[in-house]
Amino acid sequence: MKEIFDSFSEIYNRQPEVICFAPGRVNLIGEHTDYNGGHVFPCAIDLGIFCAASRREDRTLRFYSADFPETGVVSCTADDLTPRHCWADYPIGVIRAFAAFGYPLPCGADLYFSGDLPDGAGLSSSAALETATGAALRELFGLPVTGQELAVLGQFAENRFIGVNCGIMDQFASAMGRKGSALLLNANTLEYRCAPLGDAALVIVNSGVKHSLAGSAYNDRRRECETATRALKAPYLCALTPGKFERRACLIENEICRKRARHAVYENQRALDAAKALENGDLPEFGRLMNESHRSLRDDYEVSCEELDFLASTAQAFPGVYGARMTGGGFGGCTVNLIKKEAAQPFTEAIKAAYLKRYSKIPEVYAVSAGDGAVCLK
Ligand code: GLA
Repeated sequence: MKEIFDSFSEIYNRQPEVICFAPGRVNLIGEHTDYNGGHVFPCAIDLGIFCAASRREDRTLRFYSADFPETGVVSCTADDLTPRHCWADYPIGVIRAFAAFGYPLPCGADLYFSGDLPDGAGLSSSAALETATGAALRELFGLPVTGQELAVLGQFAENRFIGVNCGIMDQFASAMGRKGSALLLNANTLEYRCAPLGDAALVIVNSGVKHSLAGSAYNDRRRECETATRALKAPYLCALTPGKFERRACLIENEICRKRARHAVYENQRALDAAKALENGDLPEFGRLMNESHRSLRDDYEVSCEELDFLASTAQAFPGVYGARMTGGGFGGCTVNLIKKEAAQPFTEAIKAAYLKRYSKIPEVYAVSAGDGAVCLK
């Protein structure tokens, strides 16, 4: 906190009026289901992004990120929010989203960001940046915006101004996370319930493969799902149960689209079953569903990569691991591993050694706990 306060003062020669924090997220299960009207089961983590901010008397907006010092201070005005083709397009997009939802900024502001979320690792650094911006604007200007609206505003910014046609999961987890729990979210209705994680350990392993192609490949997956939805004459893919899907699957002529649809339908069911398993304290069943999810993402949805497959299969064979799978959009990024507490340390050492041997680099490993969503610290 003090560090952020001091850095803000150093950059802008004044003090921040507010400091907010928004977390990244890890999705336990329910991948690529949110934009198919299905369920996701993420939790906010204790890594994230801080946003410190102060109002200005003029209409200038200034942005600085300690994570991208090379771009220096990026400026624009509240009346010219055109993209700057750098990280600042995320907060600029959020400010545009606020305006589109009836909250134009009454004056300019200085914003400072810093965080400990690895970039491009699939832990939602973009959503955390959007949510942190939204939380700071809400506080700075006293806006009547709920946590759910913060999530919607962040998603709107990403869809409209960044060009990634993402679902609501990441922003929702970042805004609405609950300490110690995962959120079973119906992405169609935004109804959700919290499921306590108990005392298993959550360990994230970063393949170090940046999912830089995620934008375009992600949008391709969405289009394939839309084609399948039309062929099935369904309102959205996750409206179908696996049984119903099997009876109608032959209507989807294109084999690739059929595989994408199969993943979404079964993954939605797995997310629902996993939440039940967790609520019944059945971690081995939860882990089995995670492993199945990975297989389906690898074979049917084709968003995994060799490094993620290696990390998942190595983990799945390790004693004390309930389940392991890639998490997030894919094409690189991280795996999430649900592990017996006492096995977390030996697992961490073993997975680092195995990855080093195979790929000649040591992966970053984060032991995380489920944290709260965005908060205002000052
Ligand atoms: C990205 C998107 C989410 C979700 C996941 C895949 O993280 O931002 O909306 O679709 O991919 O589950």
